[in-house]
Amino acid sequence: MANIVIVGTQWGDEGKGKITDLLAEEADIVVRYQGGSNAGHTVRVGEEVFRLHHIPSGILYRGKLCLIADGMVVDPEVLKEEIENLIKRGISVEGLRISQNVHIVMPYHRILDGIWESRMGKGRIGTTGRGIGPCYADKAARIGIRMSDLLWEERLREKLLINLEEKNILISHYRPDLPLLKLEELLPRYLWLGDFLKPYIANTSLIIQSAMDKRKNILFEGAQGTLLDINYGTYPFVTSSHPIAGGVCIGAGIGPKKVDKIIGVCKAYITRVGEGPFPTEIKDGMGDYLRERGAEYGTTTGRPRRCGWLDLVALRHAVKVNGIDSLAITKLDVLSGLPKLKVCVAYKLEGREIEDFPMDANILSKCEPIYAEVKGWEKIEGAGDFSALPREAQEYLRMISSYAGVPISIVSIGARREQTLGWRSRGEGYLWDRIVVDTVD
Ligand code: IMP
Repeated sequence: MANIVIVGTQWGDEGKGKITDLLAEEADIVVRYQGGSNAGHTVRVGEEVFRLHHIPSGILYRGKLCLIADGMVVDPEVLKEEIENLIKRGISVEGLRISQNVHIVMPYHRILDGIWESRMGKGRIGTTGRGIGPCYADKAARIGIRMSDLLWEERLREKLLINLEEKNILISHYRPDLPLLKLEELLPRYLWLGDFLKPYIANTSLIIQSAMDKRKNILFEGAQGTLLDINYGTYPFVTSSHPIAGGVCIGAGIGPKKVDKIIGVCKAYITRVGEGPFPTEIKDGMGDYLRERGAEYGTTTGRPRRCGWLDLVALRHAVKVNGIDSLAITKLDVLSGLPKLKVCVAYKLEGREIEDFPMDANILSKCEPIYAEVKGWEKIEGAGDFSALPREAQEYLRMISSYAGVPISIVSIGARREQTLGWRSRGEGYLWDRIVVDTVD
């Protein structure tokens, strides 16, 4: 029995979907605890590719209990489509449960997301445009609409009236080209969506707590990444939730002592989508090369991702603020064939060398990376043991582990489940309990 948290150590897009999918096999419950449809988790099963925005990747294992927990924000239109698409492709969603407390992303949140972005001009964040920030803002302002409100006509009407009055003033001021939002249209639509989602609505924290009492395996699947955390990321160029491991406690309703293992997912290089400082960004052809080789285009928006060399300063920050036990390194294969690789081991700030990650975006934008150069490797063939990797790839991993100060427990060398080191298929006896022990050394 163990409760494992999977978190992103970078700006999202580390390949958490694949790692969650692997570990989900032995989990009894998979839980998402923050974020919303801004996330796009890609999972490849055989020849099939699934893209999930709200629903935990565990849904691809038949009958697995998959929870959308209290810390998330849900766009019911997108979720409905996600459910229908899975059913159409023969995937059962009977294990899906949605917290009654999740906040609802409304059409006005998406509009306000665009308005806020255009008002900020050059300082814009480059959001996914999914209404995430405005929805969390309403949650904090205590005027948000929650999932359970969709089940009560009078309550929903009252809340919509209060919101529409204010939001329509803003929309008519900043976007006079758009029609005003009407209660007569929104109320029946969202009541209908509530009815559609009703079979899945539950008290998810109770489900988690009672599963813990029964000593079940629970997997918490983080979305986005540490550097996008609203407290510990590169504010204001962040998302509006807490992707770090601590987010599990407030987002799923469990105490900190209930978490057993925290796995940080770290891509062998680094990417960022949206605006904001990015010290190791590669602005020449090498960046384009990594983007094409690694298919670095947003799952949710299709935007090309900015690509850079691995940043160990940022990784150390992620290890500390999450309390990471071990790392899952992904996309190591993308670096194959490069004669030399650069790895950022410190920053230079106004003539000084620093090793701590500055969370102030202005300071970070002044940091220059100090690189170590390491030898590349020709290619990685098949999966096996760490010792089967080319010597230079092993060196690269050792360097990451040594700078991060934590072991590496999983290495992914391709999109498919079997292209993973440190993971054995069922039958050969895996690993849920041994996950941290099976390390590179
Ligand atoms: P928002 O979450 O849509 O408000 O966007 C805020 C910032 O987080 C932007 O830079 C987005 O590009 C980034 N972001 C949000 N979700 C993801 C994700 O799943 N992967 C990578 N970046 C993300």
